[in-house]
Amino acid sequence: MKLGLNIDHIATLREARKINDPDPLEAIFVAKNAGASQITIHLREDRRHINDDDVRKIVQSSFLPVNIECACDEKIVEFLCNQKPYKITLVPEKREEITTEGGLDIKKSGLKDIIKEFQKNDIEVAVFIDPNKETTLISKDLGVDGVEFHTGKYANLHLMLYSNLHRTKNCIEEYNFDRKTLKFKLQESVEELHLCTNLAKELSLGVFAGHGLNYNNVEEIVKIKAISELNIGQSIIARSVFVGLKTAISDMVELIK
Ligand code: PXP
Repeated sequence: MKLGLNIDHIATLREARKINDPDPLEAIFVAKNAGASQITIHLREDRRHINDDDVRKIVQSSFLPVNIECACDEKIVEFLCNQKPYKITLVPEKREEITTEGGLDIKKSGLKDIIKEFQKNDIEVAVFIDPNKETTLISKDLGVDGVEFHTGKYANLHLMLYSNLHRTKNCIEEYNFDRKTLKFKLQESVEELHLCTNLAKELSLGVFAGHGLNYNNVEEIVKIKAISELNIGQSIIARSVFVGLKTAISDMVELIK
């Protein structure tokens, strides 16, 4: 199983001051030396962290394959077809959201054409989907190369069960259940992931996963053998503030191994 390092939040830190520091470009060299297998960035419509210049520089300079997450926006699709990253992961996007909540609406009209457009430009395409049978089967029909399963539900249930979050103002109301229910739902979410990752593998799709994964919750996900790649960002960049980026990445690479 490989680690795709999402470096968006290095750009988030830069944008806090609107200066050139820290530059996410520097992270791609550290990532390679620390054992990451892929660089992942999200070009959001509002350019709140990664911007067009970052995309150009990172695609041109990276030794590791670059996976760019983006919404189905006509201008972004055109720009990225010209940049030619290794892989595109199509994600849903709402301006007001803090992070990508939920998987892509896989029945969205025009999706097939966007997928074809990228593939015509020799770019692999994955879709970021909620883990269930229907989304997996529809993804196959759309002709994608792979699927990335959204692990946000699993991660939120894990946080609510095993951290102090539920006793703080950041308690996730949607998952505010008693321990017994949380345990049951967590188990259910893991089983869901096992089922649809196996199905995706049987369908000869690339099988990836990500969102909300961290040093405490990744272990259960690593046990899912069908998954070949995890895309992880926030927890690694957060840890890097205290231990440095190289150590934060290699700690995660070790856990994944
Ligand atoms: N995968 C996808 C498709 C995402 O949109 C994100 C968040 O940008 C991630 C993985 C990484 O999530 P996190 O930052 O919570 O690790």
